[in-house]
Amino acid sequence: MEERIITSEKLSTDYNEINIRPEFLDDYVGQREIKENLRVFIKAAKMRGEVLDHVLLYGPPGLGKTTLAHIIANEMGSNIKTASGPSIEKSGDLAAILSTLEPGDILFIDEIHRMPSYIEEILYPAMEDFEMDLVIGSEGKSRNIKIDLPPFTLVGATTRAGDLSSPLRDRFGIINKLEYYTDEELASIIKRTSHVLGIEIEDDAAMELANRSRKTPRVANRLCKRVRDFALVEGDGVINLDIAKRSLDRLKIDKSGLDGIDIEYLTSLITKFNGGPVGVETIATSIGEEITTIEDVVEPFLLQEGFVKRTRSGRVATRKAYEHLNISTNVGLFAEED
Ligand SMILES: Nc1ncnc2c1ncn2[C@@H]1O[C@H](COP(=O)(O)OP(=O)(O)O)[C@@H](O)[C@H]1O
Ligand SMILES: [Mg+2]
Repeated sequence: MEERIITSEKLSTDYNEINIRPEFLDDYVGQREIKENLRVFIKAAKMRGEVLDHVLLYGPPGLGKTTLAHIIANEMGSNIKTASGPSIEKSGDLAAILSTLEPGDILFIDEIHRMPSYIEEILYPAMEDFEMDLVIGSEGKSRNIKIDLPPFTLVGATTRAGDLSSPLRDRFGIINKLEYYTDEELASIIKRTSHVLGIEIEDDAAMELANRSRKTPRVANRLCKRVRDFALVEGDGVINLDIAKRSLDRLKIDKSGLDGIDIEYLTSLITKFNGGPVGVETIATSIGEEITTIEDVVEPFLLQEGFVKRTRSGRVATRKAYEHLNISTNVGLFAEED
């Protein structure tokens, strides 16, 4: 499958995300509860002259976990060192990272659920007692040594909190689940991004982009950048409603943020399989995609937005899907929903 502009996963073209990342809590839009709590915890840690408790951030891609990790470091006035679960392959990799820590540092481990469990175990004493147990020497002559670590804060991010072992999860004092954003919040992120990018955007245009951003800031920012190109080349440099609509149509993102493959999925489900129930394998074959692509990339948003339901006998299109595609249904088909 080609890269989808509406994917919430990070794309190669998102390399300059760093420029548009808010740096402090005040600029971080939405997630009110998380922000207010963090403010208190950060302030208290500073008043006590201690490090912040370990923080776990979880939620779907593109909602602002990495951004929040950096904000925590900025608010604490700490340095941040970053690593990611998949890149820590041997216990030595983690030991090497831990041994570079300085007092008060933030250690950010992205995709922390992807760390093998025998490596995870090194983290337990590190998180709990700021200690690291190392085995040195070779077989037969090996011995254990304890190394003191400076006080630090581990910030872990994951899209799958359920994949985390409970001993690891239990060692986080602060656990935050990031929520999807409202269209108003996204519009305000879009306005901020436009400002940083140095382009003017009208309010109704920002709202139009927000509506099509799948409740995800990463998507909102990406659309913002693409629409900016259209405004520059085909308009007078300002993103107005007309430019926004025209360019999003050209990018084939519809009014609910669905793209070509979403529409293909729904159309197939409704027209070829009478709206279901039908197995995911069958749908995948009918539109020529891998099952895993359908399950991991296409369906989550369609399920979340209520276009599709998962039942024991297969996928079923909802009334919302029929209405969205403008396909009429047999009277009574959705009687049980009313
Ligand atoms: N609350 C927010 N306010 C403003 N911008 C945000 C917010 N959350 C995310 N973003 C923007 O969305 C993009 C993706 O965020 P990121 O932190 O990388 O998401 P994640 O790590 O959860 O995948 C970044 O460019 C960031 O600037
Ligand atoms: Mg991230």
